[in-house]
Amino acid sequence: MTAVAIDGPAGAGKSTVARAVAHRLGYSYLDTGALYRAVALAAIERGVDPTDEAALESVAVDLDVILSDGRVMLNGRDVTDRLRDPDVTRIVSTVAAHPRVRAALLERQRTLARSGDVVMEGRDIGSTVLPDADVKVFLTASETERARRRAEQAGLPTDEASIERLRDEIAARDRADATRDVSPLIHAPDATLVDTSELTVDEVVDRIVDAVRAVERAAS
Ligand code: DC
Repeated sequence: MTAVAIDGPAGAGKSTVARAVAHRLGYSYLDTGALYRAVALAAIERGVDPTDEAALESVAVDLDVILSDGRVMLNGRDVTDRLRDPDVTRIVSTVAAHPRVRAALLERQRTLARSGDVVMEGRDIGSTVLPDADVKVFLTASETERARRRAEQAGLPTDEASIERLRDEIAARDRADATRDVSPLIHAPDATLVDTSELTVDEVVDRIVDAVRAVERAAS
């Protein structure tokens, strides 16, 4: 069983790259951000305050969520697109910063990873969730490039002022993710750093696929 961990900040291209790597290798793709977003959405729907750690912990423990082929089912409902809405995005960093929420989702993520060959994408996969992952990659890109990609992905305006606003939002979320006490977004020392600002998706995917194939060759 081979595990590939892809971490990095918002907009670094993790989802696109992780999905393509999984597809090329025939591995399953697991987006762990979707789990945190699902907790945030469930909290919104149940009227739970994003600062109420105990209540959020029970939301996370009871979460009826299924990740399958890049789709996310919450209580049997396809919420994949809903999870990207601004109300969810606005509170998800606060939700993800609670140690008890993270603890509740940790075992769930490890169980998912044990289901076979996986590409798992998140913020703390190489450092905390799967410290023994066979290949660890930390993707990054400049803040402006990440803002531009987010705008294009979400069909938002791409004029300079809009990009600047998005860039500030992204920088604020990075700060929140990188400075929380538990499992902050960090570049694990044994993860390969890839700056995607000047690379095409295919170039990034090729590099990771090559690294995985080298590991597989060494193991066989
Ligand atoms: O990748 P994303 O934007 O969907 O992630 C949503 C939030 O979840 C993000 O603010 C950081 C958090 N997250 C996390 O703390 N740990 C993970 N493994 C994945 C996401």
